[in-house]
Amino acid sequence: MSDIVDVAVIGGGPGGYVAAIRCAQLGLNTVCIDAWKNERGRASLGGTCLNVGCIPSKALLESSEQYFQVKHKISAHGIQIEGATVDVPAMIARKDKIVTTFTTGIASLFKKNKVQSVLGTGKLLKRADTDDAWCVEVKDGDNIQTIRAKYVIVATGSVPRQLPMVDIDNETILDNIGALALTDTPKRLGVVGAGVIGLEMGSVWRRLGSEVTILEAMPDFLMAADEQIAKEAKKIFSKEPGLVIQTGVEISSIKTGKKSVTVQYQDADGNKQKLDVDKLIVAIGRVPNTADLGVDENGLDLDERGFVFVDEYCRTNLTNVFAVGDVVRGPMLAHKASEEGVAVAEAIAVKEKGHQLNTQPVNFNVIPWVIYTAPEIAWVGKNEQELKKAGISYNVGQFPFIANGRARAMNAPTGFVKVLADAETDRVLGVHMIGPHVSELISEAVMAMGFSASSEDIACIVHAHPSLSEVLHEAALDVNDRALHI
Ligand code: FAD
Ligand code: NAI
Repeated sequence: MSDIVDVAVIGGGPGGYVAAIRCAQLGLNTVCIDAWKNERGRASLGGTCLNVGCIPSKALLESSEQYFQVKHKISAHGIQIEGATVDVPAMIARKDKIVTTFTTGIASLFKKNKVQSVLGTGKLLKRADTDDAWCVEVKDGDNIQTIRAKYVIVATGSVPRQLPMVDIDNETILDNIGALALTDTPKRLGVVGAGVIGLEMGSVWRRLGSEVTILEAMPDFLMAADEQIAKEAKKIFSKEPGLVIQTGVEISSIKTGKKSVTVQYQDADGNKQKLDVDKLIVAIGRVPNTADLGVDENGLDLDERGFVFVDEYCRTNLTNVFAVGDVVRGPMLAHKASEEGVAVAEAIAVKEKGHQLNTQPVNFNVIPWVIYTAPEIAWVGKNEQELKKAGISYNVGQFPFIANGRARAMNAPTGFVKVLADAETDRVLGVHMIGPHVSELISEAVMAMGFSASSEDIACIVHAHPSLSEVLHEAALDVNDRALHI
């Protein structure tokens, strides 16, 4: 590839592949370089999200929830199903098939949009002032090629944070990759970290029959969530048979035996404890992936936490080099990565092609968070502790799923929705949910906040009856003490 392309994207996850598609749609000649290979050594686009993240975890969460319902919940509907069993390899194969459908789907989207896909690891080379383009060296084994591009978008994502005392072998000690590929249900499963991955993957294997113990370093868990929601989650999860969450622990050693792992730790009361498990998942956060980018040579600035340093428009310190997604500051979420990818693609197209587009920085305040446990947890905007800290006065409206007809009909009357609105203007500042299908319900709150709605705006909208959305409606009404069904 000797000609200069308009854009070289390094990384084919939701940040990179979406940026590449949008660039190509806007008439930019675009190459996307990605290193991910499937077990047959072929390119597998989609990054962490499609290969070992969002999609496979949700496939297993859905399968395990179906099994759990049949085994433990369906009798409440007057249905008796005896002898339900799980075929774990079949469940994993279903998950793998979904992953392949989507990873090959991106390859088709690239073809359709004329994005050139290059398999290999990309390194951004140092550029002299006299050079007319950036050079990205791409290595795949012994095969090395150089791509020249006017613009570069770095979208190299993140990798699991390592616990210093253990080696992840993905046989006994697992990260997200191993946790999504077990072919048998471990009798005893340990999880280090009660974060999003720990709770989701712990849920999968608990529903399938594992005795799950989660060890969390912080005195509480779900620190990013609204405190009341986190408390409610803790209350609900601690009643679940087969699940123990211990907070405030300090792990001193992790030793792998022939077929088990022993974790030694100090509990919150300072007592020494020992946990023996068959498998251990380590999920203590993720760190930006800049390992192969050549940052020592090319001068790309990193911030103090190792993320590629960018401004609100995702511009790095290097001219015409942008960075998006998990490798830069902000929430590590697929939809945040994609939105940044689109914003950067459009900014480049405005400059290069003169497109009339209204390019704006991504508004982090309206990025939804969802945790796919049962019940689900979702939020958007500010939580109560953040509003208190910022000295903003607000009103609270709240409504429980127990008073909702649809939730009762579904046998899922757990949790509540809370709306926080500015005390003076009534503008919605945050919406927090724990309950059935709140992963879907949160979109209405995101839309409302996206259009700067007041709680009264939500309250004025007609919501279908009976539907879970009525809980958000009633919570919005409750901001001004107008809730009807409580
Ligand atoms: P990534 O998806 O990590 O993609 C980066 C790509 O760049 C990878 O393919 C990598 O191989 C490639 N790469 C890296 N360096 C180079 C290089 N030098 N040259 C070439 N290629 C390179 N988020 C959600 O919003 N919802 C969820 O439900 C959700 N579930 C998750 C579940 C799990 C188990 C995990 C681990 C994460 C989950 N996430 C979820 C987070 C989500 O996966 C990430 O936020 C998202 O993938 C980030 O996208 P990205 O494009 O920035 O990076
Ligand atoms: P996390 O940041 O959500 O949670 C890590 C947890 O590990 C924290 O509670 C932390 O206090 C704890 N911890 C850290 N060190 C520890 C130690 N030594 N001992 C015990 N506990 C320790 O990180 P996680 O779960 O690894 O997920 C990474 C990111 O991936 C998430 O923050 C999220 O951005 C993304 N993700 C998103 C999902 C979604 O949107 N549904 C699902 C899964 C992941």
